[in-house]
Amino acid sequence: MIPKISNLEEYKSVYNKSIKDPAGFWAEIADCFQWKKKGNQINSGNFNDVNHSWFEDSTLNITENCLDRHLDKRGEKTAIIWESNDPKEEGKHISYRELHAMVSQFANVLINKGVQKGDRVCIYMPMVPELAVAVLACARIGAIHSVVFGGFSARALADRIDDAECRVLLTADSTYRGKKEIRLKDISDDAMNLTDKIDNCITLKRTGNDINMKQGRDSWWHDEIDGVSTFNEALELNGEDPLFILYTSGSTGKPKGILHTTAGYMVYTAYSFKNVFQYEENDIYWCTADIGWITGHSYIVYGPLLCGATTLMFEGVPTFPDAGRFWDVVEKYKVNIFYTAPTAIRALQACDLGFVSSKDLSSLRVLGTVGEPINEEAWHWYNDHIGKKQCPIVDTWWQTETGGILISPLAGITPLKPSYATLPLPGVEPILVNNEGEIIEGNGVEGNLCIKNSWPSQTRTLYGDHERFIQTYFSTYPGYYFTGDGCKRDEDGYYRITGRVDDVINVSGHRIGTAEVENAIAEHEGVCETAVIGYPHDIKGQGIYAYVVCYEEVKNADELRKEILAKVIELIGPIAKPDKIQFVSGLPKTRSGKIMRRILRKLAEGEFDKLGDVSTLLDPSVVEKIKSGVI
Ligand code: WT7
Repeated sequence: MIPKISNLEEYKSVYNKSIKDPAGFWAEIADCFQWKKKGNQINSGNFNDVNHSWFEDSTLNITENCLDRHLDKRGEKTAIIWESNDPKEEGKHISYRELHAMVSQFANVLINKGVQKGDRVCIYMPMVPELAVAVLACARIGAIHSVVFGGFSARALADRIDDAECRVLLTADSTYRGKKEIRLKDISDDAMNLTDKIDNCITLKRTGNDINMKQGRDSWWHDEIDGVSTFNEALELNGEDPLFILYTSGSTGKPKGILHTTAGYMVYTAYSFKNVFQYEENDIYWCTADIGWITGHSYIVYGPLLCGATTLMFEGVPTFPDAGRFWDVVEKYKVNIFYTAPTAIRALQACDLGFVSSKDLSSLRVLGTVGEPINEEAWHWYNDHIGKKQCPIVDTWWQTETGGILISPLAGITPLKPSYATLPLPGVEPILVNNEGEIIEGNGVEGNLCIKNSWPSQTRTLYGDHERFIQTYFSTYPGYYFTGDGCKRDEDGYYRITGRVDDVINVSGHRIGTAEVENAIAEHEGVCETAVIGYPHDIKGQGIYAYVVCYEEVKNADELRKEILAKVIELIGPIAKPDKIQFVSGLPKTRSGKIMRRILRKLAEGEFDKLGDVSTLLDPSVVEKIKSGVI
């Protein structure tokens, strides 16, 4: 049994031990898992050589730990509860035994398709149980899954397929999110016209709409599993064998393929799941994220299943058929632990309180948030109206790169402070660094958030580009992992994340690179130059603001805006659509030609009196023009 910290004193002593002797600490946690071969090497490498590794001489299969290991004691226990987008459609309860059979069977399908250890499989599926089955089936045979969120366009999907050189694509005919239909197979078809990498595309029938089938390449999921054995011996994998790739945006260039490996990820996601949420054996746990993001990987699929939990998967959105949907689902399944994003809380907070007060939320014991800083107002609403002041709120800070939660209260144990992620988890050493790269000691300070030493679930590299990995995370402050976030440490030593300090915007908890959006807008033939920045947005946290310079005089601004939006949707997807597009005659630049984003941010916020010194700009008059809206 994975140990669970039960009070603040214990947290402090466990934490100190974990920092003094990380290998000893994690070796004990690792003992709680099933290994095929247990080695002696717990960790090795360092952040100067960027060669950190964990459990590199041990072998295992993570799905044996998620599934097989539970069959004796929890075979009939529900592993996955599935709730449809449509409240009238019956939900599903899948037991550990059933899930084990489904995963084993689909693993055999993949083997039949010639998928081997180390091959990459792209998964572009809705939030249905088969998505979890697909993920775990890959892990069972040592194939590397690359899940792409359904909000990405055909072009973005094709780019990710190309980058990881996936040969197999798993998708569904379509899905509903609220009233919107997302035709996943059609989008997949378009993607497969943009890349020739895919030899096999398997489609799950979800909605039953008509789709195209290309002979020799495309097949139905139900045909593929028909008559296939539900027995599959999990492959023996090395602790450092890759488990998955997940693309995320950075401040420059194309999305990065974050690579996670097997054993460290397993140990850390299970340990953090159990401790942060203070999970208890019969809890019903619901994380509202999509499996297309890291939150879904670590805390819908792997963490909960590794702990033998019942994890709820929801296909829909918080506001369909009305703004009470989350609370209907909590009431229906008597959810005990509920984990969502601040953007969802703010959206629901803006609706009638009757959607909440008419529901029985008494089953709730722990609440969580993730994805962006939670503002105090939203924190209090969540605490008062959802938790009825009885449920601790765990504000969990982490990233795609960190694999698991690094800074967070432990529910009911760590004293809370609204909008603070509070204290680091065992094994995690946060440090604040100033712009010169010096560590800022003491409390009541602010700086760039770095992590001093490796933890088990840390990304090992960017797929196919280790040099970029070193550049991105280990070169700004050599010897440390740089998170890209700004952070305060208050008088009590509590951490408060203040937001990105790089050119990444956080829109509704989704990470969007400004460079990516700029590249997409610049593809419009009329666009000469563009600068994209984030600005405060009531619901989304940050909105996307695009300043656009055109070659010719803008005659029909509305039309041009529509065309630019269409470009962004085509090249990235609806999630990256700018909220505001302002046509301008020029951008504020330094004499060396660098765009002054700081000034653009202030202009977007309407803080015209806080622009600072603009006299050193190449052409100070552009600022006046932007202010007045003159093109
Ligand atoms: C960025 C990582 C981790 C899963 C979801 C996002 C921001 C995340 C918090 C939080 C303040 C947060 C950071 C981070 N972030 N959680 N609790 N408080 N900021 O994963 O897409 O990799 O984004 O999200 O800026 O760097 P991601």
